[in-house]
Amino acid sequence: MYKKLAVCSLLIAIIALILPNYVSNVIGTIIGSYLFFTNESSNSDGTIFTKEELKLYNGIDNTELYLSILGNVFDVTRGKKHYGPNQQYNVFVGCDASRSFVTGMFGKEDISEEVIDFSKEELSSLNHWVKFYKKEYNQVGKLVGKYYFQDGKPTPYGEKVNKLIKEAELVKEHEKEQLKKFPHCNVEWDANQGSKLWCSNKSGGISRDWVGVPRQYYDVNTKSYRCACIKQDQVNNIGNIKEYEGCDKGSNICFVKT
Ligand code: HEM
Ligand SMILES: *[C@@H]1O[C@H](CO)[C@@H](O)[C@H](O)[C@H]1NC(C)=O
Ligand SMILES: *[C@@H]1O[C@H](CO)[C@@H](O)[C@H](O)[C@H]1NC(C)=O
Repeated sequence: MYKKLAVCSLLIAIIALILPNYVSNVIGTIIGSYLFFTNESSNSDGTIFTKEELKLYNGIDNTELYLSILGNVFDVTRGKKHYGPNQQYNVFVGCDASRSFVTGMFGKEDISEEVIDFSKEELSSLNHWVKFYKKEYNQVGKLVGKYYFQDGKPTPYGEKVNKLIKEAELVKEHEKEQLKKFPHCNVEWDANQGSKLWCSNKSGGISRDWVGVPRQYYDVNTKSYRCACIKQDQVNNIGNIKEYEGCDKGSNICFVKT
């Protein structure tokens, strides 16, 4: 199960890398792209579906395949090989199975629109899927129920989820900025020397034009110390860092006995 989740995370990460929205650092662009409760395209997403109506778009009663995510209905007929009868992701069509996009549980009994209890990471991963469908498929309407009223206006629940997603994306954006400013060190363990911690111009997966020096960095997000590469001209300006014992101030490499 963990392996499966890892593969899917990878899939999501790949999707994230491909879509230009995700690599944009302009927070405004990001905010704009994840607000799905807009009426800018009310002609294309104006149809209001009841649960019973949506149920028919399952590829059997009706040849079209529609799925709903957070109450937004998309035409996924083009993805018949994924969503068609007896296909791997058939569980998603004809209903709103928002929860399963994150849990990866595809049984009939797992189908649920409920996501309010999701963590920030889970909401962010769910939002990847919303953006995926907006990009890859056409929205054809909205589903009456948990997320939208009969008149297409978002319910308080829908507004709450939208707000939580917005917050989750902002936190994630902030964490990404922190990782760029304070990239992880490279780590290697050696039986004789203990841990070798060192910085390079791409340690922590952050390609940059500086290398930095290893420091113990207190990460407020995880509430713990980790090794971070600190830009040399900033070592005196940053509060939440400590030098490694027995390591030269200016060295790119530190050895730490564990
Ligand atoms: C949380 C778990 C997962 C969810 C919610 C999920 C969901 C989806 C969805 C909705 C699609 C169709 C995308 C489209 O419309 O083009 C898809 C495609 C696919 N998924 Fe997953 N998936 C999950 C886990 C996995 C795992 C564990 C694997 C592999 C072992 C996997 C492999 C694939 C493959 C190969 C495709 C087809 C890609 C293509 O042909 O374009 N997925 N997934
Ligand atoms: C949405 O539509 C309503 C009227 O239908 C309008 O008053 C409102 O300004 C619109 N909102 C946006 C963000 O376009
Ligand atoms: C990173 O360092 C390598 C040598 O270690 C160098 O060839 C490369 O140009 C550097 N990259 C950047 C972005 O400075």
